[in-house]
Amino acid sequence: MAKRKTVYLCNACQHEESKWLGRCPQCGTWNSFSEEAVANTPKSAPLPGDPRATSGGHSIPLASLEAQADIRIDAGLSEVNQVLGGGIIRGASVLIGGEPGIGKSTLLLQLAAKVKTAGRVLYITGEESAAQIKMRADRLGISRQGLEILVETHVPVISNVLEKIKPVLVIVDSIQTLYNPDAGEVPGTVNQLKYGCHEILSWCKEHETSSFLIAHVTKGGQIAGPKVIEHMVDTVLHFEQAAGDIRILRATKNRFGSVDEVGLFTMDEHGLSEVTNPASIFLIQREGELPPGISVAPIFEGSRALLVELQALTVPAKGGMSRVFSDRIDSGRVSRIAAILEKHTGLKFSEQDLYVNVAGGMRINDPGADLPLALALYSARTGQPLPSGVASAGELSLAGEVRPTTHLRRRVKAANDLGFHQVVVPEPGKIRRIQEALKSIWKT
Ligand code: TYD
Ligand code: MG
Repeated sequence: MAKRKTVYLCNACQHEESKWLGRCPQCGTWNSFSEEAVANTPKSAPLPGDPRATSGGHSIPLASLEAQADIRIDAGLSEVNQVLGGGIIRGASVLIGGEPGIGKSTLLLQLAAKVKTAGRVLYITGEESAAQIKMRADRLGISRQGLEILVETHVPVISNVLEKIKPVLVIVDSIQTLYNPDAGEVPGTVNQLKYGCHEILSWCKEHETSSFLIAHVTKGGQIAGPKVIEHMVDTVLHFEQAAGDIRILRATKNRFGSVDEVGLFTMDEHGLSEVTNPASIFLIQREGELPPGISVAPIFEGSRALLVELQALTVPAKGGMSRVFSDRIDSGRVSRIAAILEKHTGLKFSEQDLYVNVAGGMRINDPGADLPLALALYSARTGQPLPSGVASAGELSLAGEVRPTTHLRRRVKAANDLGFHQVVVPEPGKIRRIQEALKSIWKT
């Protein structure tokens, strides 16, 4: 029998060597090499982007190409449809990552039961037993004709089952459990992941079957395993926890839609529920006067307005070195807004430590949150609370101008709908500069 070829892969950076080394020459990690068998070239058809895909040397005039109808399947969960850009594309693959316990298996089992297709749905699990899946399904009140559960990790067995039942949708929970004897002895290696995913995705592409691949994430929140898996699929989603029971589904890659939309869910004992009216979900209901440092912003996530509460705190910096502590808003942005306030209002932020938070745990990149962030910082530094019922939206230039931002009218409406009677936004002749915005609130 021919000796199987092996290579050595660094588990930290996936650098490849032909010999074992104690230290990775690329990333410097010690003892990170493990032996990986080089899998025989998979027999299945190459995926787009695969170097084995070849045109046979023929180019085709663009004008003669026929567009493929965008056949989308309703996921049965509108938040998932929204994130995918209007439903599940036939034959498309989705990788979904998230921390253990976040609700990936719950979400995909609910989807498997609700997806609007007459065809078969195959839920492959290497993580749980059939009895565990049944218990979860009972808890979720799920049953469905045509939903098949396969408890399996061996890729050749999975391929046979795919061939036999020809599902229209396949869910793999999780790709880290896939195992193929041709790809080395140890499950969970980089090579196993590549081989297993390639096998299943190739079958799905050939048969126009859509797929969801569940993946574990590393401590840093990255999808565990080689980047090449993310390149193989059409869409990459992350399932994350915001405050408490709130879960956010967001796309970081989407060949068939934008990556701006988020899906919002709450998790309780009956599984995940979709948040149909998300505008107020991150808002904290408060009675009476607000504490200083609190300001409300109508922000945009994709096509929807959400109201969020920004919180700021300033304290004298130890040793005179001022620092910014902000996880949810880029700290460079917090420094910039503080500098604008200092320059144009004379309020000193140097020699202060700045703490910024977003209630509900939403991360904010929306430029329209500049003005609300400035108001939160100003209020924190001066100790003057914003009056209740006030929200704001607008971008700030370095020159201290308040500039319009996207969807200004819809932001104002979203805030008004939730009882904010004064929404401070740039207005020609009235609010053009940060000083005028402050004056419109504190009349000073
Ligand atoms: P799970 O979907 O197993 O997470 P993942 O696949 O991402 O690891 O969900 C795990 C957690 O969710 C578990 O701690 C129990 C909780 N849960 C609920 O709160 N309600 C439910 O209806 C279900 C099924 C799970
Ligand atoms: Mg799971």
